[in-house]
Amino acid sequence: MNDDSLALYADTLRSMIDHRTRALAWKGKSSTLRAACTHVLEGGGKRIRGMLVLLSCRSVGGTVRRALDAAVAIEAMHDFTLVHDDIMDNADSRRGRPTVHKRWNANTAILAGDVLLGLAYRSLLECPRDRRGRLVDVFTMGLIDVCDGQGMDMELARRTDVSLAEYFAMIEKKTGALIATSAEMGGVIGGGTPAEVRALRKFGHYLGRAFQLQDDLLDVVANEKKLGKPIGGDIVEGKKTFLLISAAGRAQGADKELIDRVLRREVQRDVVGAVTDLFQRYGILEDAERRILHDTRTASRALDALRPSRSVAVLRWLAGALVHRAS
Ligand code: IPE
Ligand code: IPE
Ligand code: MG
Ligand code: MG
Ligand code: MG
Repeated sequence: MNDDSLALYADTLRSMIDHRTRALAWKGKSSTLRAACTHVLEGGGKRIRGMLVLLSCRSVGGTVRRALDAAVAIEAMHDFTLVHDDIMDNADSRRGRPTVHKRWNANTAILAGDVLLGLAYRSLLECPRDRRGRLVDVFTMGLIDVCDGQGMDMELARRTDVSLAEYFAMIEKKTGALIATSAEMGGVIGGGTPAEVRALRKFGHYLGRAFQLQDDLLDVVANEKKLGKPIGGDIVEGKKTFLLISAAGRAQGADKELIDRVLRREVQRDVVGAVTDLFQRYGILEDAERRILHDTRTASRALDALRPSRSVAVLRWLAGALVHRAS
């Protein structure tokens, strides 16, 4: 199969998930909350986690139909994490539109996140009865891990001496957990053997690491319009990204002073250009790209444990496509 047909198949799955996620629209009595939830559910997004559920399910012999409710559940949970993440990160835009706390206010965003999580569980409870208990368990552990990772993210942002080991431990939870959970859930619904489910989870784990590294990179190199969220937000918020931690270990002289100010969160938006230039000069952007490729390859190799099929080919294609994404 060529890349075009893999992309086409991935796109068909994306549309199915998108359609079903939008249809979750909640009809509560509070008009503000209702509007905020609709705003998020209709905001699109790449639907990567949902696609991973469907493809993982198919890769072990299951059907798309059996996995659709789980795919929608994971996307709704992801939406919940984003709405709360944007409050924590003071982010003004997401998916090319104002964030919920900006368009309305923080209280509405907290509640909208809560409703989205509730909708996620309702969708999860529509999953095949014979797998439901296990799915609820995996899903809930994923949720708790994301919160743990987000807690670590905030603690690290307040510190100036963060190691790369701490960074990887943090991203494996805040981003890796949900991506690994998606792949694992698909494997469970599809009736995969324990070895197959483990392989899928491993795929998701490394893909999640690559995905967050890429997200950190996009924060400085992306086109803001295409990315749909603010550029340089991590720098202004003193987020301990792969880029900043690497720069802290290498920068000299005036560069070191600038990085120290970023680490201490003493900078404004006007330094973003200079910090990006510094990352470039010290070869840190290339370093991040190398790591992304490395993790993506490790992820792809985990799939060698599965029987070759179109779905496995699409999973590999998807992992490769994420390395080149612009949003
Ligand atoms: C954004 O996730 C949050 C991270 C974990 C980096 P996505 O980049 O998958 O967001 P959408 O759903 O496509 O908007
Ligand atoms: C995302 O990390 C983690 C979660 C949403 C759980 P970021 O804070 O880097 O994500 P973006 O860049 O805002 O999408
Ligand atoms: Mg964040
Ligand atoms: Mg954020
Ligand atoms: Mg980010």
